[in-house]
Amino acid sequence: MDLNVLLKTLSLDEKIGQLMMVPPHLFIQSSDTELMGPLKALGISKADIFKTGSILGIGSAQEMIDVQTIYLESSRHKIPLIFMADIIHGYETIFPVPLGLASSFNEDLLEMVAQISAVEASTAGIQVTFAPMVDLVRDPRWGRVVESFGEDSYLAKRFAAAQVRGYQGDGVDKPENIAACVKHFAAYGLSEAGKDYNTVDLSRLNLFQNYLSGFKGAIDAGAKLVMTSFNIFEGMPATINKYLLQEVLRGSLNYKGTIISDYASLKETITHGVKSNEYEAAVAGVHAGLNIEMATALYIKNLKDAVENGDIIEEQIDALVMDVLKLKKECGLFDNPYKGASIEKEKQLVHADVHLDKALSVAQESIVLLKNRDLLPINNQTKIALIGRYANNPNMNGPWSWHGSKHLNNTLSDVFKKDMNLIYVNDGSNLDYEKLKAADVILIASGENEKDSGEAHSKANIKLPYNQEGFIKAVRDRTTQPIGLLLFNGRPLDLSNIVDDVDAIVECFFPGSMGAQAISNIILGKVNPSAKLTMSFPRSVGQIPVYYNHLPTGRPFHPHGEYTSFYLDLDHTPLFPFGYGLSYCSFKYDNFRCSNNRLKMNETLIVSVDVTNRSNRIGKEVIQLYVHDHFAEVSRPLKQLIDFKKVSFNPYETKTIEFIVTKDNLQYYDGNLNLRVDSGTFSLMVGPNSSDLQKLEFEFFKEV
Ligand code: NOJ
Repeated sequence: MDLNVLLKTLSLDEKIGQLMMVPPHLFIQSSDTELMGPLKALGISKADIFKTGSILGIGSAQEMIDVQTIYLESSRHKIPLIFMADIIHGYETIFPVPLGLASSFNEDLLEMVAQISAVEASTAGIQVTFAPMVDLVRDPRWGRVVESFGEDSYLAKRFAAAQVRGYQGDGVDKPENIAACVKHFAAYGLSEAGKDYNTVDLSRLNLFQNYLSGFKGAIDAGAKLVMTSFNIFEGMPATINKYLLQEVLRGSLNYKGTIISDYASLKETITHGVKSNEYEAAVAGVHAGLNIEMATALYIKNLKDAVENGDIIEEQIDALVMDVLKLKKECGLFDNPYKGASIEKEKQLVHADVHLDKALSVAQESIVLLKNRDLLPINNQTKIALIGRYANNPNMNGPWSWHGSKHLNNTLSDVFKKDMNLIYVNDGSNLDYEKLKAADVILIASGENEKDSGEAHSKANIKLPYNQEGFIKAVRDRTTQPIGLLLFNGRPLDLSNIVDDVDAIVECFFPGSMGAQAISNIILGKVNPSAKLTMSFPRSVGQIPVYYNHLPTGRPFHPHGEYTSFYLDLDHTPLFPFGYGLSYCSFKYDNFRCSNNRLKMNETLIVSVDVTNRSNRIGKEVIQLYVHDHFAEVSRPLKQLIDFKKVSFNPYETKTIEFIVTKDNLQYYDGNLNLRVDSGTFSLMVGPNSSDLQKLEFEFFKEV
């Protein structure tokens, strides 16, 4: 298919149509009367929908086949539609939410999750997923932290790349692979006060230092699409922000693919107060290089006039359309408009046992043990009382699991009955304290609802909701048995009120289809926890934003200094820091050393540490390496993660863990947004989390 030839055969209306995305129901409702509502809302005619280029969301292979068939029968040019949807942490088989997944610190798992998601979703004819989301998050009030990889730019880069590899595999033309759309460009995670869709105010320096990193990871791994964000950057909505889309995305990040708006974000430039009508907004979209407008119809209604008025030229439209046609070609749609869709495979592959087995192993590696006062693991003879709102609740899928059937999940009580000596189950209402007292251990399964986090689900109070703190305290006061808290949530919670009331805390996030079995295996010690937090847990909402890689201040905290950086009424450290998570093993770090205390421009430094498993169990440890640049042109973080290794240890085994450090690990963006590295002193730090670190220093010399 010669796309230049194809483009020439299209009328201006048809070209503009390629830039529009509509929902599938516009094609599969039965009568014109039914169609009137949605079409009226979009302000377009029935003829217009047969010019559209892409579809938002599709529920099954049959639905996709129907929509594509109806479309191809009636459209003049017969260019297939492309189908896009949000496949965020699984399609029907649901994996842990991204914040949990990231806690696994295991890129191979992140890649596998994306790959299985692609295999399942592609059978329904979905060709593009709106993932990964790489927004850097430092405010747990923001509901969308659940969709993110956490607070660290280095992790965002590595995990984004892993997921793009997983979704796109060996080519998006293959039926089982789907194209990745990395989002939201850019800085959406900084919504002020954690309130979704709120103002963002960010320096260009910070944008480059921290917020672009995840996008770079995804783009360098070949992500085919980028989605813009709802927020403003320097006062201009990202969707029409020429600096962001042209200079940064196309320029600095060298991005060549398709740019899509977020849902209605082109039209919302009017509510942002920078465009006074739809015509102006559409023109601004074209000038910024926005290829596809999601869910509104400003382009189709206005761009023809804009060409006639000379506000844009047809060549601009041609360039935008060409990117969309290239995407369709890359996805193999000109060879097979039904690419991927298969009613047969959908039955075989979706929610297949082999996928559920993988969901189990991923959930097990994503659960973080936050506290353990010699309670866990327990043996299967221990008499257990399981209480709380998640004791009997199968819905552990979390936000963005629209296709995953929660009713197919086991509940904790289903699984614990089978695996343990479960003597009492209660969901929290009318608790029978006599029965509780008969147990050896009380497990409280507590947390947020699925709808407490996610898009438009921000919270000002991030303590355990629904009076669960009161519930835990009542159980603590009226019983003497050890209590283990199993937590389900989509954000770091403020656990300060109850952390001392319980003996163990197992942070499960939303663990997905196989969550209950994964939790049982962890509690019984069949699996040793190995996940680590990728977002700090604050002691109070008043500490937010609290993150590990903050900059030095002129007056760093000093325990005896009055005018230093601290709170009068609260410890300034987080309750649980970035990188933190316990194991049933205890690991000892010794002998942190480096091959040389000098490093030159083209040399490498080998940094090693001996890590010993001091227990009689097999366990995995995430060994983390951080750097600090003592003096630079601009202030640099006191510590910045530059590498990590997740390593398995046999009982009592010692392993020497090696990292390679080069100038690339020492680079930073200067005031002119150029990457640079300076001669001088650097610290390297190694340890099991961001606050428990051993340190050494070396000198870097820029001269070769
Ligand atoms: C709005 C969300 O911000 C975005 O993440 C999502 O992909 C789109 N809606 C499409 O559902």
